[in-house]
Amino acid sequence: MHLLSLITASAAFLVPALARPASSGLASRQAASSIYKLPGSAWIENLVIRPNGQLLLARLDVPELWSYDPATKAGTQVVGFTDALSLTGITEVSPDVYAVVTGNFSTRGFSVKAGSWAVWTVDLTGAAPKATQVKLVPESGFFIGVAPLDKSNILIADAAKATLYQMNLGTGAYSVVLTDASMKAPAQGGLVEGIHGLKYANGTAYFTNTFGGGFYKVPIAFDATTGKASAATAAKPAEIAALTMAEDFILAPDGSGSYYVAQPNANAVTKITPDGKSSKAATAASCSSVAFGRGASDKNVLYIATTNGAVFSATIAQ
Ligand SMILES: *[C@@H]1O[C@H](CO)[C@@H](O)[C@H](O)[C@H]1NC(C)=O
Ligand SMILES: *[C@@H]1O[C@H](CO)[C@@H](O)[C@H](O)[C@H]1NC(C)=O
Repeated sequence: MHLLSLITASAAFLVPALARPASSGLASRQAASSIYKLPGSAWIENLVIRPNGQLLLARLDVPELWSYDPATKAGTQVVGFTDALSLTGITEVSPDVYAVVTGNFSTRGFSVKAGSWAVWTVDLTGAAPKATQVKLVPESGFFIGVAPLDKSNILIADAAKATLYQMNLGTGAYSVVLTDASMKAPAQGGLVEGIHGLKYANGTAYFTNTFGGGFYKVPIAFDATTGKASAATAAKPAEIAALTMAEDFILAPDGSGSYYVAQPNANAVTKITPDGKSSKAATAASCSSVAFGRGASDKNVLYIATTNGAVFSATIAQ
């Protein structure tokens, strides 16, 4: 979600998204196939996989959540939001219940509106989708990544304010957990995009800093009784790897502790091992976010969403 990516996105839009020809060896392992393309000039900012195997696609160009079913190969709108122009982050907080970030981003003017960012819950467990606004945050700069602390508390990355917030999804109460230089975007005019992709596991928050060019981790304690997340006074995020224009990422399901990170400008998904070694895992133009399949047949399939509305898949040897 940055200028170069926008140029890449427009350039990619002129070229039909064709599946890459399969070839032998490394190349075929790295080749990602185009499996779906949203109608029009769409921009997918984030994706998650539902328990039923369908993909949920959060769009930045319009405030719409779409689904794509790999079984039927059909895509459809699930929820349209009001009072905002865009969706950014999405995460599952309990089975088939999601926290979704909305706000005002213009994919044409490439501008972000401070104070427009809100968190919603989207409950897909019933007959019809149920979307509920939890809280609009007036002091928000640019909310993007979200990660669950438990089923009713989330962490939120504010890319413009170099800040990690927490919010209770039941009450809407929110507070700052940590503000740090590692989350800050360097000044380069226009859009400010620091901390972006966000995950929380085993008492550790992992995040990318898109313009800052890094992938970091920091211990964050969560007290389930009080619902309070806190960083130790001396907590300092540690850089796992330097990564140019890293957006969203996913933990490998194989227990190795490796991460797969979308780097749209490199048109690549990069694998980062826990000791910080990086290697190219898949090629996909303008990739913004990634998620592994959850079924027996697609658990090694990495689904890759892109800023030009296409979805790719790549089989990853674990
Ligand atoms: C965001 O956009 C919506 C829809 O156009 C508008 O109603 C709302 O006032 C905007 N929010 C801000 C903070 O500008
Ligand atoms: C958290 O710990 C579990 C159990 O030790 C392990 O399987 C998992 O990979 C760990 N997650 C991360 C992100 O390191």
